[in-house]
Amino acid sequence: MKIKKAVIPAAGMGTRFLPATKAMPKEMLPIVDKPTLQLVVEEIVEAGIEDILIITGRGKGAIEDHFDKSIELENLLRDKGKDEELEEVLKISSLANIFYIRQKEPLGLGHAVLCARQFVGNEPFAVLLGDDIVYADEPVIGQLAAVYDEKKNTVVGCQRVGWENVHKYGVVDTDDPEASVVKVKRLTEKPERSEAGSDLAVLGRYIIDPEIFEIIETTKPGAGGEIQLTDALNILASRQPVWAYTFEGRRYDVGDKLGFLEATVEYALRRKELSEEFKSYLTSLKD
Ligand code: UTP
Repeated sequence: MKIKKAVIPAAGMGTRFLPATKAMPKEMLPIVDKPTLQLVVEEIVEAGIEDILIITGRGKGAIEDHFDKSIELENLLRDKGKDEELEEVLKISSLANIFYIRQKEPLGLGHAVLCARQFVGNEPFAVLLGDDIVYADEPVIGQLAAVYDEKKNTVVGCQRVGWENVHKYGVVDTDDPEASVVKVKRLTEKPERSEAGSDLAVLGRYIIDPEIFEIIETTKPGAGGEIQLTDALNILASRQPVWAYTFEGRRYDVGDKLGFLEATVEYALRRKELSEEFKSYLTSLKD
């Protein structure tokens, strides 16, 4: 079954990035000149998925404005003959069919996903975290969709993060963390190093069976007092196969200060018009 719908939870408070995120959604933090969320939307579109639901919340109005048409700006750019900028701005508002729903309280990622129930209906759907970006030759959500096509069950996008980092992630318990597609035995949210089944962490990309919704409805708050998607996926894994797929690509957690800085530097170095000058600036810092 082709994956036709994608959900982007973007209603979190972004407390790791205060004070920048006090009035601005963290999903709008720019990587060079593009908001993080636009990079996520472009990944979905490149994978051939056209219907996108963004889960927003209070104070996230800039997200809707960004993907809307901006008539005054378009007219101004047209009048000034700024054709390249105009093309860029026009492209944003016609990227995909974008829908919005508000999560009234940030009760956790699982709760945010539950807000998508009506939009999704009874078909498998993609979930991409709004503050997670991956630089890859092939869009990561497309890579997961290909695995879904073969397995016909839920697929979680993973990478090895090193044992010293497992306490920050949802971690997969599996017999074979080396294989690129493995069956999940168990998922644990933010385990202690001694309790983690591997250092294979779930990193912001999922194709999920719709049975997840009824599971989330009865999932109790877990780590951090939040309704965790990991806990619901763990219950799903006890009812039907759930696969962990190690995706190809360089992933950045933009909601984390260091992750944001890494993304900024590496994306800037990939930009033709910036790379040379920026590289020599970075090199000069070493002296
Ligand atoms: P995070 O845990 O990174 O978001 O959730 P957060 O809660 O904003 O982070 P900090 O720790 O306070 O900095 C991953 C994604 O899930 C969304 C976030 O917006 C982010 O894109 N999310 C999280 C929701 O939509 N709702 C929630 O209740 C929690």
